[in-house]
Amino acid sequence: MTKAKITAVAGYVPDDVLSNFDLEKMVDTTNEWILTRTGIKERRILRDISQANSDMALKAAQELLAKRKISAEEIDCVIYATVTPDHVFPATANIFAAKLGAKNAWGFDISAACSGFLYALGIGAQFIETGKYKKVLVVGSDVMSRIIDYTDRTTCIIFGDGCGMFLLEPTEENYGIMDFIFYSDGNGCKHLHMKAGGSFMPPSYETVANRYHYVYQEGQAVFKQAVYNMAEVSAQIMEKNNLKSEDIAWLVAHQANKRIIDATAQRMGLSSDKVMMNIEKYGNTTAGTIPLLIWEYEPLLKKGDNLILSTFGGGFTWGAMWVKWG
Ligand code: UT7
Repeated sequence: MTKAKITAVAGYVPDDVLSNFDLEKMVDTTNEWILTRTGIKERRILRDISQANSDMALKAAQELLAKRKISAEEIDCVIYATVTPDHVFPATANIFAAKLGAKNAWGFDISAACSGFLYALGIGAQFIETGKYKKVLVVGSDVMSRIIDYTDRTTCIIFGDGCGMFLLEPTEENYGIMDFIFYSDGNGCKHLHMKAGGSFMPPSYETVANRYHYVYQEGQAVFKQAVYNMAEVSAQIMEKNNLKSEDIAWLVAHQANKRIIDATAQRMGLSSDKVMMNIEKYGNTTAGTIPLLIWEYEPLLKKGDNLILSTFGGGFTWGAMWVKWG
């Protein structure tokens, strides 16, 4: 049976660093509080406002094409996970593909917040497994700094900007995307959302004055759901596929809070040396975290390694995926 294999990985983070010490000067917080509550030391920020989400992805994509030694015209489809698109419409996938010169690709955006990349990867794998396409580019990219209120100490300390992407191609070997379990629950909306800008509350002078175009998050409510659901779904994908903790080479978990990741690893019976972690450098890049982890850890991965990718985010959305590295 044809499987979707990850044949190239690339990433991009902006050069500008926003450290905990910088945040100490902006809001009532301390480096110590942020570090102990979240595990984050610094994050990257796309300060140049002439640059948008698609410009970050363009830089990563150029790396990916060079690594895989293919041209942009060979890409069949772009699936772009983001909650910070260049525009409300058209899709950033289309803008990005045009910038890249991916003339033969069609594409669309996925809005599933921190689970966006995993959802997109699951969808992309279907196009490959059915034989419909040969090269699907799956992007996870967010410029969270454009929708973060830097006067709100409860949210601004977590988020950062970044982009990662995978190329999926067919293989007849038993490697690649093996299985996934996805969930969502729209009742979570009240705990994590952007109040205005959509049809529910169109933009107005009032919405701007009330700071309704920024991320609204009830941290504790989200934390409780994230800890429980990310751990549960990660255990579920293992049980469903008869995988024991000793079979798992790496946990690749969404980087929102180190305490959530540690709880997930514990539930799966994994020691910390099997947990990919870069939250201290980049914070929560929303759709970017999972591909950015694999981008950084790729040199350590061996053929046949079992990876569990897992996530929880706005929606609520959550899920886990089993990948056999090929
Ligand atoms: O990625 C998608 C989904 N998002 C997440 O998974 C995020 C989940 N939530 C979290 O990671 C955590 O809830 C936060 C990091 C956002 C907050 O950490 P917490 O341990 O849940 O803090 P808290 O909201 O319970 O607040 C504890 C105290 C409060 O003070 P009082 O009421 O106890 O006096 C807050 O006002 O910490 C205070 N506080 C801060 N103090 C210093 C909140 N933010 C800060 C801050 N610096 N930045």
